[in-house]
Amino acid sequence: TPSPIIAPSILAADFARLADEVRAIEGAADWVHVDVMDNHFVPNLTIGLPVVQSLRKATEIPFDVHLMITDPERWAPGYAEAGAYNVTFHAEACEDPVHLAKTLRAAGAKAGLAIDRDTPVEPYLELLPYVDTVLIMTIKAGFGGQKFMPEMLDKVRDVRRRISAKDLDVRLEVDGGIAAGTIEQAAEAGADAFVAGTAVYGAADPAEAIRKLRALAEG
Ligand code: DX5
Ligand code: ZN
Repeated sequence: TPSPIIAPSILAADFARLADEVRAIEGAADWVHVDVMDNHFVPNLTIGLPVVQSLRKATEIPFDVHLMITDPERWAPGYAEAGAYNVTFHAEACEDPVHLAKTLRAAGAKAGLAIDRDTPVEPYLELLPYVDTVLIMTIKAGFGGQKFMPEMLDKVRDVRRRISAKDLDVRLEVDGGIAAGTIEQAAEAGADAFVAGTAVYGAADPAEAIRKLRALAEG
């Protein structure tokens, strides 16, 4: 397993000060995780392309965009064109994940496939050679601050087993309830990228919180 990626989620940051909040994790975070919600795929609404385009100019940290939206075919390429490093769309919202992944790669981004709480991974294992990131939700997508669900780690183990068996270059990311008390079990299950909203932006010192999470993930 490659060295861990820590991706703080700005969903838990102060949306009135997003540029400052992202700069506060520069040098400590590997990626910044940007949760895009459309109040349709999930019952919550966050930010969209104009905010991402503006925020992109405020920092050099690679953007890990998590699209919790319907019709990702229509919107995802815009995030790649805006300079996102990785664009992740949901399996449940996409008719042809391989095609969308190709489109994203052609637009210069990594392509990620997200699996929500109630979705099994088995039907998607054969798609792993066509994506760069698999994101396993360890909560039900839609809101920050929820309780980590350890039963989701069986999915992480299944995906890790397939990545190893086929020697694939795929990042295995977990999202939801990742904190000092949960990150080790996620890492042991095979995750190598960790989204953390509350655990980073709810901390008095976000950069220090990231360092602690990284140390725990490294084991
Ligand atoms: C929720 C988002 C998560 C959220 C995680 O659907 O996808 O990225 O920010 O928040 P925490 O780390 O607080 O569970
Ligand atoms: Zn997310």
